[in-house]
Amino acid sequence: MPVITLMSPDPSPGGTGLAQVAKAVTGLLRIPAEHCWVTWQQLDADASHRPEWQRAAAGSRAPIGFVTCKETYPQETVERLLRLLRDELSTLLGVPGDEIYLAVHRAVPGELLIRGDVWAGDGQGPAGVVSVPVGRVVGGREEVRDDDWGGVKAVIRLDGTRFGPDALAGLDAFSHLEVVYHFDRVPVEKIETGARHPRGNTDWPLVGIFAQRGKNRPNRIGVSRCRLLHTDGLDLHVQGLDAVHDTPVLDIKPYMHEFAPQDPTTQPPWATDIMRHYY
Ligand SMILES: C[S@@+](CC[C@H](N)C(=O)[O-])C[C@H]1O[C@@H](n2cnc3c(N)ncnc32)[C@H](O)[C@@H]1O
Repeated sequence: MPVITLMSPDPSPGGTGLAQVAKAVTGLLRIPAEHCWVTWQQLDADASHRPEWQRAAAGSRAPIGFVTCKETYPQETVERLLRLLRDELSTLLGVPGDEIYLAVHRAVPGELLIRGDVWAGDGQGPAGVVSVPVGRVVGGREEVRDDDWGGVKAVIRLDGTRFGPDALAGLDAFSHLEVVYHFDRVPVEKIETGARHPRGNTDWPLVGIFAQRGKNRPNRIGVSRCRLLHTDGLDLHVQGLDAVHDTPVLDIKPYMHEFAPQDPTTQPPWATDIMRHYY
C-alpha cells in the first residue's frame, strides 16, 4: 500500500488530479483502488530552499516527494513505480520530469500499522526473501486461463541490465527447461493458506494448498516445464510455458531427466482429471 507525499511551494493540483495519480499506481501494482493514498503539502516558500524553485515561475515548480511502500515490493516494481510517478506528475503539473525528486521509504514488518494491525509481512514472516526477476515473459497468452497451454509459444526475455547472452551459453543443447516464475496477477488477499477445492470445483476434493498446484499459493511461485525452441541473444523462445505475457521470471534451469523422480509416480484421480486438457 504505497503512501505518496508530495511537497511544493505551489498549491495542490486538486483532488481529482491526485486521484488520477493514485489510480495509475494501483493499476501498475494491480492492487485495489483504495490501497494508494496521495497527499499534497504546499510549502511556505520562505521556509524551504530548492534552487530550481527559486528559478521557476510560480505554478510550475516540480515537487519533491516520498513514497512509503512495503519492503517486500521487488526492486524492479519500485523502479517502475518511480518512473510512472515521474511521468504522471510531469503531465499533471506541466513540469519537467527530470526536476521531480522522489525518494522511497521502505516499511519493514513490525513497523507499519495498517487497518489497526501491525503488519507482520506478506505471509513470509519478518525474514522474507526478496527476489529480483531475471526476466519477463513476452507474448504468448494475455489472459489468465486454465487449459490448452501445449501450443502456446512465447519468449522469456532476460533483463539486459543484468545479463548478457553468455548467461544462456550452452542452453540450446537442452530440449526442455524448468522455469520458476511469480504469479504476479494474484492479489495478496486471494492467497490461500489452508485447503480449497482445486479451481473452486466441488467435484474435486478439498485439499491443502500444498497438495495442489493452484496459483493462489502463499509465495505465488509457479514452476513450469516447457520446450525450449531456441535462444536468440537475450531471448529464449519457448512452447508450453503456462505463464501469461509480462510474468516476472525468477529462474531458468535446463531440464535433465535424471532430476525426474527415480521411482514410478502416483497421484489421485482428481489430479489426472484436472490435467486432462491442460496441455
Ligand atoms: C495452475 S498454475 C500452475 C503453474 C505451474 N505449472 C506450477 O505448477 O507451478 C497455472 C495457471 O496460472 C495462471 N497464470 C499464468 N501466469 C500468471 C501470472 N503471472 N499471474 C497469475 N496467474 C498466472 C495461468 O492462467 C495458469 O492456468
